[in-house]
Amino acid sequence: MAKKQAVSFKLNGRQVEVLVEPRELLIHSLREKLQHTGPHIGCETSHCGACTVDLDGMSVKSCTVLTVQCQDAEVLTIEGFEQSGELHALQEGFTQEHGLQCGYCTPGMITRAFRLLKENPSPSEEEIRYWMAGNLCRCTGYQNIVKAVQYAAKKMSSAHT
Ligand code: FES
Ligand code: FES
Repeated sequence: MAKKQAVSFKLNGRQVEVLVEPRELLIHSLREKLQHTGPHIGCETSHCGACTVDLDGMSVKSCTVLTVQCQDAEVLTIEGFEQSGELHALQEGFTQEHGLQCGYCTPGMITRAFRLLKENPSPSEEEIRYWMAGNLCRCTGYQNIVKAVQYAAKKMSSAHT
């Protein structure tokens, strides 16, 4: 068995440390060692996007990242979105626009959309669809997911004006 290594990083603003084998994937460290079960495992082959997290300002599928790559990084998961009991505009958007049914894909959808709105605060429908194409939903169809992202974009831009 490979020697374990301590890896420390910031998770939703809090410093954490995990002891991992070099082959351990970030999604497993998050779910099994750090009890952050918001990021889900759908495929483990980089197709579904259920495991999406933000890593140092990039949207990544955490089933494609080794935990040892995260030393000193900043990781944001869906658990970091609600602040002081207030839902994030994206969480509100998915609720208001009925962007989910079973909710399995939702943490990845929201985390992915978060990075889109950071980079492009008022995306067109086409841009939203393009950006979200790597996140699959098996139950809703995508129309309400697009509307949820548009809702959040509007709410966030009016908060800045
Ligand atoms: S579990 Fe990572 S992309 Fe599907
Ligand atoms: S809401 Fe069920 S997989 Fe998307």
